[in-house]
Amino acid sequence: MKVIIGCDHAGVQFKHDVMETLRQRGHECIDCGVYDEKAADYPDIAEKIAKEVLAQGVFGIVICGTGVGISISANKIAGIRAALCHNEFTARMSRMHNDANVLALGARVLGPSLAGAIALAFLETEFEGGRHQQRVDKITALERKGR
Ligand code: RB5
Repeated sequence: MKVIIGCDHAGVQFKHDVMETLRQRGHECIDCGVYDEKAADYPDIAEKIAKEVLAQGVFGIVICGTGVGISISANKIAGIRAALCHNEFTARMSRMHNDANVLALGARVLGPSLAGAIALAFLETEFEGGRHQQRVDKITALERKGR
């Protein structure tokens, strides 16, 4: 699976740890920054990753200290369904029921091995469709109403 990944300054090492886990499993990680711990604003990273996710039709992973700011930001972009997950169950469910296309992680919340397991669960779970499709369609409709 190809995944676009980015973080603010709080998540640089954490992002490398997550990428290492994903690459070991054969996933392709495209690192869109940031690359050092100089202060960076998470909405800028969220926008960059979200646009790549939509342009390339692939999954994204966004990381900030808590995962909160970057998930809120990513969800402002129409077509993005970003799920902030703290465990594998939520990550799987966000794919099965919500067809999430972006996973948000908190670098100051999770340890690296749990984060890797969450990312694998996210990338390796399929959307169930069926009754969940109409609900996802309603999310898309909300995006239009909210403009
Ligand atoms: C940066 O200090 C921090 O506010 C940011 O990484 C994130 O946690 C915001 O939601």
